[in-house]
Amino acid sequence: MKRLRHDVNVAVSLVLLVAAAAAILTGIIADLWDLTGFVYHTYAGYVMAILAVAHVALNWTRLARYLRFRLMRPATPRLPSRARSPVSTPAPSRRPSAGRNAPGMLHALYTRRGFLGALAGLSAGAALGRSSLRARPDIPFGTDLGVAYHQWSKPGMRDLFGAVANWGAQPPLYKTYPDAPRIILPPLEDRPGPGLEEAIRKRRSVRTYTDDPLTLAELSRLLFYTGGINAERFGVKLRAAPSAGALYPIETYLAVHRVSDLRSGVYHYSVADHTLALLREGDMRSAAVRQGLMQEFLGACHLVVYFTVILQRLRWRYQERSYRYALLEAGHLAQNLYLVATSLGMGVCAVGAFLDDEVNAMLGVDGENEAAVYMLAVGKT
Ligand SMILES: Cc1cc2nc3c(=O)[nH]c(=O)nc-3n(C[C@H](O)[C@H](O)[C@H](O)COP(=O)(O)O)c2cc1C
Repeated sequence: MKRLRHDVNVAVSLVLLVAAAAAILTGIIADLWDLTGFVYHTYAGYVMAILAVAHVALNWTRLARYLRFRLMRPATPRLPSRARSPVSTPAPSRRPSAGRNAPGMLHALYTRRGFLGALAGLSAGAALGRSSLRARPDIPFGTDLGVAYHQWSKPGMRDLFGAVANWGAQPPLYKTYPDAPRIILPPLEDRPGPGLEEAIRKRRSVRTYTDDPLTLAELSRLLFYTGGINAERFGVKLRAAPSAGALYPIETYLAVHRVSDLRSGVYHYSVADHTLALLREGDMRSAAVRQGLMQEFLGACHLVVYFTVILQRLRWRYQERSYRYALLEAGHLAQNLYLVATSLGMGVCAVGAFLDDEVNAMLGVDGENEAAVYMLAVGKT
């Protein structure tokens, strides 16, 4: 019975140490990454509290004896150690009896001094980790938010803990609108255009357009070569523009002004099956002009392309670097759009200055989980 009690005591002490270490480590992770929904350190704390109570209960007699000795000791001058003993037993038997049989390491851990030493070691480790896991970015006072974000999102040792930290689940790769009317885009015709080098040379930002309507076949080609699925590797469908981890955070929407066989309105491009979903019918020309801070060409063009970002598609894996990747990827798509439009005899003008809230409202996205990052006018020249 005594042996069992001793074994339980050792086990409780060891698990208590592990729980304490887990609480410290997960606490640091939650703090470093500002993880508001992170609960592992809370659980570790609960386990630690329960074990601490068990530890006190198991050692109550010794604890009470020690407290009695500390609190009720008469204030007498220091005596030789044997004389100061609170109990009448000889000095060697004051040591925990089981400790004499335990292996050296275990013994060192479950004695009071060993436990406090381990705790001090853990705290020192935590303090060290706090200062070196995340190299503190040097952000001078008055720096703009972009620079602060750039410094903050530099990778470091802390990325090793990426697997432990919970940055949420991976959302679906494709956005769908099952109830929206669907427009099947025509299959691509063989149509030799100018070579790539010529398209790069001819590419300019174009702000004036002809009155001829754009055809559905041209739109189909434009969308496919901008961001369509064009390959498959190891079961992963790959697209025209590169994407970090093939996670494809960008969604494409259109405000169609003048495309033959297509009603004016707002559409979502479904990359999975190369179709369009009609989200809202209507003349969007004045809305587009207003969104782009009264730049008139946004109403004169044939259509406006909008790129949005679903950040969680990257965040679960790339954490704080996700926003960088999202903007880089929007840039890749936009350049494809510029070049394929040039090769089809069209012109594009990128627009970075737009009223985010108005664009997000028109597209029906919340601006947080999914937000517009780029707007581009496209028209025939
Ligand atoms: C991120 C970004 C934002 C832009 N925003 C606008 C804009 O709001 N209005 C505009 O007329 N052109 C805009 N442009 C187009 C630039 O003015 C154009 O690329 C630049 O003058 C160089 O001309 P080029 O594209 O013909 O070579 C933007 C371009 C980029 C890359």
